[in-house]
Amino acid sequence: MSAPPAGDLLTLDAAAQNLLFRAARTANTFTGEPVPDEQIRAIHDLIRHGPTGFNSQPLRIVLMRSVAARQRLLPHLSERNRAKTATAPLVAILAADTAFHEHLPRIFPHRPGIKDRLDADPAGREAQARFNAALQIGYLIVGIRAAGLAAGPMAGFDPAGVDAEFFPNGRLRSLLVVNIGRPGPDAWADRLPRLAHDDVVRTV
Ligand SMILES: Cc1cc2nc3c(=O)[nH]c(=O)nc-3n(C[C@H](O)[C@H](O)[C@H](O)COP(=O)(O)O)c2cc1C
Repeated sequence: MSAPPAGDLLTLDAAAQNLLFRAARTANTFTGEPVPDEQIRAIHDLIRHGPTGFNSQPLRIVLMRSVAARQRLLPHLSERNRAKTATAPLVAILAADTAFHEHLPRIFPHRPGIKDRLDADPAGREAQARFNAALQIGYLIVGIRAAGLAAGPMAGFDPAGVDAEFFPNGRLRSLLVVNIGRPGPDAWADRLPRLAHDDVVRTV
């Protein structure tokens, strides 16, 4: 865990910094402790405030706990992602709603023309849906950590297979599968190095 930069430049207290980022890890095993619906509701109530382009909020979440639901998902996951997804307390498919613009008259009412423009532009709409849902996935992972839980995000799956199985009408596009729960004692490999500020940031 790297030390915070010198000085008190971040408003968030050190314990919260650790919970959300510095000590937080991607979990690969979980305890059997369940993740109740109310906890997901509380996480969603927090992260729904994260910003999206024209307030579009295209992320959709499908939760699965039952063995039957997981059996529909597991064949579409890469081999190395199957065992942990079969045993995690909660599994979520995160998807982009390509018809998110239907909600715009309610959630972005001051620019009524955008819905009609997006109606006529399915490719642009899908690009917007994917980009903004991906932003919301970032908020969701941090929100899961804020609840004292760990997330195990996985892009290693066949999106066409998941979409055919779970979203046959074509409106939703799967982006990521995430295991959620309390991390098990052997949840982690060593933390991989992160790029430094000067590798990433430049001022022009
Ligand atoms: C978008 C995304 C896709 C990922 N896909 C997989 C995956 O398919 N299988 C897997 O085991 N880990 C996957 N990971 C986990 C990353 O390898 C992990 O989050 C990263 O190495 C950082 O680990 P740390 O949080 O423990 O430091 C994925 C993570 C993200 C954010």
